Amino acid sequence: MTTEPALTAVPALNRARQLEMYRRATRVMPGGTDSNFRAWGEDTIYVDRGQGGLVWDADGNGFVDLRMGYGPVILGHADPRVDDYVNERMRKGVSFSLTSEDEVRAIELICELTGWVDQARMTVSGTEATMHAMRVARAYTGRNKIVKFEGQYHGVHDYALISVGPDDMSELGDADNPVRLTWGRGIPEQVAETIIPARYNNIEFLRRLFEREGDDIAAIIVEPVLGNAQGIMPEPGFHQAMRALTEEFGILLIFDEVKTGFRFAKGGAAEYFGITPDLGTYAKAMGNGYPAAAFGGRAEVMSVLPDKVSHGGTYAGNRVAAAAAVKTLEIIRDTDALETVRATGLRIQDGLREVLNPTGLPYHFTGHPSMFGIMFTDTVATEYRDWANTDHELYDAIAIAMQPRGAMPEPDSREPWFVCEAHAQGDIVDRVVTAFQGALGEALAARAQGRPSSDGHGAMSHPTAG
Ligand SMILES: Cc1ncc(COP(=O)(O)O)c(C=O)c1O
Repeated sequence: MTTEPALTAVPALNRARQLEMYRRATRVMPGGTDSNFRAWGEDTIYVDRGQGGLVWDADGNGFVDLRMGYGPVILGHADPRVDDYVNERMRKGVSFSLTSEDEVRAIELICELTGWVDQARMTVSGTEATMHAMRVARAYTGRNKIVKFEGQYHGVHDYALISVGPDDMSELGDADNPVRLTWGRGIPEQVAETIIPARYNNIEFLRRLFEREGDDIAAIIVEPVLGNAQGIMPEPGFHQAMRALTEEFGILLIFDEVKTGFRFAKGGAAEYFGITPDLGTYAKAMGNGYPAAAFGGRAEVMSVLPDKVSHGGTYAGNRVAAAAAVKTLEIIRDTDALETVRATGLRIQDGLREVLNPTGLPYHFTGHPSMFGIMFTDTVATEYRDWANTDHELYDAIAIAMQPRGAMPEPDSREPWFVCEAHAQGDIVDRVVTAFQGALGEALAARAQGRPSSDGHGAMSHPTAG
């Protein structure tokens, strides 16, 4: 028996300008956006501006932003410390296809903060970072295959789009023998065949796989937590066991820290879980929203560059991105910003607990306080397939009903809430909790009356990460 929070009147969102923008944009942009993950049909949001932990859409509706651009904005939107520095540096010119000290400084900071990365190179996106890390791993080992976990997202290159995020888990195939499920058309079969899907938190599965095919496997790439499924955490000892197993079979371990890097800890998830991988990929939080990314690792592995492996990019290490990385990483190094982010995430969770506990609904938080999900189930999920057994329809209904109440999480339970330093300011935490309380009441009332609680976002298949 659940107790519903009281219902209060909610102002409707004004959407007139955005609807007009959507119609205009769809004429020239597929889906009216620059990314499938933002294409929400007539609900597509067109943004005007952000400030700190807040965002305003083109109709002037303001929200506490719990998406934070899918994670990069770790300090807050339009952070003057970063923006002023970038502005100052960019006046000296931005693109030379020559190397500036800003780039050297950015990479020095990555090495310093992670403590285990000896050498790195900048890219423009997380997609490029994982693509290059995979290539380096193949070149270093002389092997072709890469293992990736079901439900993990590593960007939109061909090698990454395997077994990422179906709604229907049967598409992933037999649990002991998962299929390579390509996400969308256009990925050559020959490319897909080099990727082996594995099951997160299942070390026995990995051992069997390595015993069978280890000689062909260059690397295993892992999001340290299942960032594409509410941040499902590793079971105690999983990363350590995986590290030991990869060493036993001479397989490289790539930590894809695009979401967790410079967020979970100053040294990312590798520091948080006490693991030393061979390669790591970074983006998002390293530039507070500017397009800064990097891949790096042990000197010996990275030594295949520059002579034996191709890597380049006109915009790799451009001044805007490099300067943003320098200032953001300095702030992360020199201040308690990450501690503020973590503490604020915990405050939000405390508030949500106060709302949820009296309802009797089964739920738990997943992930890290800086990047967490709310799973409506009493069983702890350990892999992507478990997400299907959660009451994600309830979550989606709540997330959508939070918008007119002034807070915007991603309207798909798989994407975590992202907390930034600026969320600690003013009454932001209270606003989030109040919006959640009202939305939960609405969703439960709709359910009690047998009404669909929400029709979700039209064109969105599965928002994941960019
Ligand atoms: C873990 C992970 N890897 C790679 C990527 C791809 O990064 P980008 O969107 O910058 O290409 C993402 C994006 O969300 C991600 O979450």
